[in-house]
Parts: sequence; structure tokens; C-alpha cells
Amino acid sequence: MAESSFSAVDIIARKQSGAALTPEEIAWWVKGATRGEIPDYQTSAFLMAVFFRGMNVKETRYLTSAMIDSGRRLRLGTINGIKVDKHSTGGVGDKISLILGPLVASVGAHIPMISGRGLGHTGGTLDKLESIPGFRTGLKVRAFEGVVRKVGIAIIGQTDEIAPADRKFYAIRDVTSTVRCPPLMVGSILSKKIASGADAVVFDIKCGEGAFMRNAREGKNLAGLLIKVASTLALKVSAVLTRMEEPLGTCVGNALEVRESIEVLKGRFVEDLVDLSLTLGAEMLLLSGRARKRDEALRLLRTALLGGKALQKFREMVEAQGGDPRVVDDPGRLRVAGHTRTVKASKAGFVADIDALEVGKIAVALGAGRTRAEEDIDHSVGIEFLKKKGHRVAEGEPIAVVYAASAARGRRCAALLADAIRIAVRKPEPKRVIIGRVSSGRIEELPPV
Ligand code: URA
Repeated sequence: MAESSFSAVDIIARKQSGAALTPEEIAWWVKGATRGEIPDYQTSAFLMAVFFRGMNVKETRYLTSAMIDSGRRLRLGTINGIKVDKHSTGGVGDKISLILGPLVASVGAHIPMISGRGLGHTGGTLDKLESIPGFRTGLKVRAFEGVVRKVGIAIIGQTDEIAPADRKFYAIRDVTSTVRCPPLMVGSILSKKIASGADAVVFDIKCGEGAFMRNAREGKNLAGLLIKVASTLALKVSAVLTRMEEPLGTCVGNALEVRESIEVLKGRFVEDLVDLSLTLGAEMLLLSGRARKRDEALRLLRTALLGGKALQKFREMVEAQGGDPRVVDDPGRLRVAGHTRTVKASKAGFVADIDALEVGKIAVALGAGRTRAEEDIDHSVGIEFLKKKGHRVAEGEPIAVVYAASAARGRRCAALLADAIRIAVRKPEPKRVIIGRVSSGRIEELPPV
């Protein structure tokens, strides 16, 4: 047990009764849990009490500060200018960091990106990158800083040094169903970003059945809390709400998503991926001062994407982090599972719904994600959609291909996938992936890119 000026039981009881905790109590808990002095079963109870009773803005700020102080705070002093990052609250098929990071770096911004692994039904950028042979996501801080300085972007995982309290809490939250809790999310997200040396962050807050925030109202509340707490910690932010009802892009699964990202960087137009990358990229350029107007930012980004600068930046990043850059020219080098199974339309009509949550779970069942933190994953498995929501299909027309490690698993997952796709007679109303930017407590529309 932590040597005690406080009692863990009393703090849990106070939070259970709805009391606001003091900065000292919160700091004591964060420190004790991170050092292993407060046992995980009490931290589970503490997190559950916060889940049900919430935290006010001040408590959330104390929590965030204590989580930052649980490790080192990188200053990245050798890199000039504003360091800008992006954080997504997690979705299915969300490979945006792989496109957006190199894209924004290719127009001169510096991006020290700390990313996560897949959690629950959501995928993780680190797992995707590790499907590139040799790619190292575990760079030490000095090497990380060196790559950001030289290339403009590096993507690594959380280390023991950066906000270790988040590692501890997240592992417990993941298995106690306490992830969907705004103050805990804010502490987790902001502590990592601030500790990793970012001066500005764009939040991609996913809303919908495939995300932790189930609708735009929940997303707006999370955005409001992120903005309030970030402003007390001198972090510049922008919060964009985006839809997570169907998977993003056309692929789900690690190697398949890297392949798709490379294709987009080579100019393939996948509408939701391009819209999201340009929209979030423009916010990053505005925050970092690389552009003064949104139109100017979008122009810079379009030119970099279409002119191949973003692809070149991706190649440089892969090389600097030990990966095989030949995958960029030949994505066929990425290993993709050999057992394929096609899911066909059960009737003629329009694809009306592809349930992102179910697809995420199927990807995990295929082996692309984990159900326990220590599990190994299979980078080669996944799903490729040949049709997306709104597309017309004939009876028996292929809609998706499942890539599995065995024929039996492919068959099982293809059957589950067929149930996750709904076909209707009427064409569904098209909805843009961008919902809007949260500003002064309102959702403001962002014009098309
Ligand atoms: N992403 C994070 O980094 N933390 C959370 O708590 C939720 C999503």
C-alpha cells in the first residue's frame, strides 16, 4: 500500500458519494497507482466511482497534471516552431494517421506522434505500422526527437517514460468497461500529448456506434471538456467531430490498411479518407501557424498529396524508423493472409449500413486485434470492402473479401460479416464523414475540402 497521508478507501467512498476530490488526493492516487503502491483492485474501484460520478473541470485538470507528472515531459527543444499532433478517439478502419502525418509533415510541420495499439474493437496505428517489415515503434526519446527533427514526423508508442499513469489506468479501464468516461478520456489523451512535447493538437472525436462516443451530443461534451482543460494547460487545440458508423475507407486490418494508406498517398481517391485527412490537416496547419487561412492550408495539402510529397515523406519516415521502404513502391511486399472468402449481396438494392462495431469485432475475431493487452496479433488478416454505404449492388455481387489465417475462420467470419451488412431497396441519404468543429460549445460546419 502507498505510505499514507490518505486512505484509498476514504477517497473511493468520497467519489462514490459524488464529492469533488482535492488536487492532493488525485495526485496521491495517480502516484500510488503508477508506482504499484495502490493495488489494481482499488484503482479499479476508484475508476468505476469516477465513471459513475464524473469529475468537474478542475478535478479533470488535476488528474491530467498528475498523469503528466507521472513521467517525463519532453521539451523537444532542438526542434524549432510549434509541434503539432492529432489524436483520434478510436474507430474501425481508422488509418488516418498514416496518411495525415506524412501529409502535414511534407508541408513543413513537425509532428511528434505518440500512438496506441488496437483496443477492444478499434484498431491502433502502431499495430498497422508494425506490419511493415522492420518498422520500429519503440524508439527511445532521443532517437524519436532526432527523427522528428530530421524527417518532420515520427510515430512511436507510449513508453515507460511518457505518462506511465495512462498506461496503468488504460490497462485497467480496458478490462473494467470504464473507457467511455469523459474525464478519464481527457486525462488519458491530454497527458500523453502534453508529455510527448506537442504544443498543439487536433482532436478527431469519433461519434457513432463504432466509437466510444455514441453520438454527436456525447462527442460535443467530450470536446468541450478537452478544450476547457487544454486551455488551462497552455495546449492549443481544435476539436473536430467525425462519423464512425461504417468503417473508414475500404480496408480493416493492419497490413491491408497500410496498403490502402499508400494507395491514397499515391493519389487514389477514397472519399472519406481524403476528406478527413485534408480537413484535419488544415486544422493542424492553422494551429501550427504554417497557414493563416483554411483555404491556403487546403491548397498546400492538396498540392503535397497530388504532387507525391506526402508519399515521399511517408517513405522517409518508414526508413528512419527502420522499416523496409520498398513497401512504398511495392505494397505487395506486405504480407496478406492467403485464405480469402467473398461476401456477396443477398439481394439487389443499395448497401444501407455496414455496422462498424460488428466489423471491428470481426476483425478482432480474425486475429487483427486483441482481446487482452498481452495478446499477439496477426498483421496479415482483415477485410476489404468492394462496396460502401450508398453503393448499388446486384444480387450475388461481391461486397467484401475476408482475409483469414485459416479456411474455417474465414468461413465463420464471412458469415458474421454478411450479418453486419444491410441491403435496402432505397438508397440511404449520403452523409459526409465530417460532422463539424466544436467551437464555443457549438458544432460549426466545416466547408467541403
Ligand atoms: N484514446 C485515449 O488515448 N484514451 C482514452 O481514454 C480513449 C481514447
